[in-house]
Amino acid sequence: MTSYEPTGSGRVLHQPVTARYPELPGKVAVITGAARGMGARFAAGLATRGVDVVAGDINGEAMTATAEELNAANGSLEEKPGRIVASTVDVTKPEEHLALARRAVDEFGRIDFWVNNAGIFPFAEVADISAEQIRATLSVNVEGVLFGAQAAAAHLRPGGAIVNMSSVSAVRVRRGRGAYCSSKAAVAHLTESLAVELGDQGIRVNAIAPGYIDTEMTRWIQDDAPALAKALEAVPLHRIGSPEEVFGVLLFLLSDSARYVTGHSIAVDGGSRHV
Ligand SMILES: NC(=O)c1ccc[n+]([C@@H]2O[C@H](COP(=O)([O-])OP(=O)(O)OC[C@H]3O[C@@H](n4cnc5c(N)ncnc54)[C@H](O)[C@@H]3O)[C@@H](O)[C@H]2O)c1
Repeated sequence: MTSYEPTGSGRVLHQPVTARYPELPGKVAVITGAARGMGARFAAGLATRGVDVVAGDINGEAMTATAEELNAANGSLEEKPGRIVASTVDVTKPEEHLALARRAVDEFGRIDFWVNNAGIFPFAEVADISAEQIRATLSVNVEGVLFGAQAAAAHLRPGGAIVNMSSVSAVRVRRGRGAYCSSKAAVAHLTESLAVELGDQGIRVNAIAPGYIDTEMTRWIQDDAPALAKALEAVPLHRIGSPEEVFGVLLFLLSDSARYVTGHSIAVDGGSRHV
């Protein structure tokens, strides 16, 4: 049955994605920016499908609390869930990615998947955005992906997969998002470069390009009813998406069903890139 939950200013479909891939249990994933939002949803969804997860976030305290909560919730599952291990990581620091990778190998003996999910979104017109905000955006959103891919490439084996978080902002310009849009366009391009180079190692690299998704990152627009209504005019499905709906695509990209898919950005945006 389809169930919608009101968010105060729109409707979000939180119904769980039911797809299961029998090849996933026993695999190991690293996810950055997993203390909340989509990263937390990805960790939860993979763990319920038997994938062990090293979940990293710059907010170590929140990451630990999230991992404890998700592991406890998985305790009652019939099928053996994967374990979520919390770790502190600042994705702007290459050495912290290497430590995250080491943690995964120490805990679980291998790494199969790496999800470069951490990102920041400053809302400011080009005339107003500070140099500090610009540098932080490019550092977290672009360098963070590149450093993550370097750490992943050192550990992933043939059949391994990297997924980067881009955005509809990579291809659609909106006011107040110059630094963010350009950073996500860089992620889309970087995904293609990485796919070409890491293809030699049998590693696939893809990106997901979400539109408006129900997380803290979009709280500002969800709490502004007129702004949200205007934004949803440019979304053919006329609603924002849920983290679960992005997870469904992540699941596919990590699965064997996507084994000949590399170098692509898959939009999960209710069609908004066409409007
Ligand atoms: N929410 C959306 O509508 C939307 C749309 C398109 C793309 N995205 C992208 O999806 C990804 C996840 O977004 P979200 O909505 O879940 O965001 P969110 O703000 O809810 O969560 C982001 C997480 O990243 C962490 N983080 C920030 N800087 C970090 C750093 N330097 N090192 C490690 N962790 C760091 C934060 O602490 C937070 O837990 C981001 O890359 C974002 O740009 C989001």
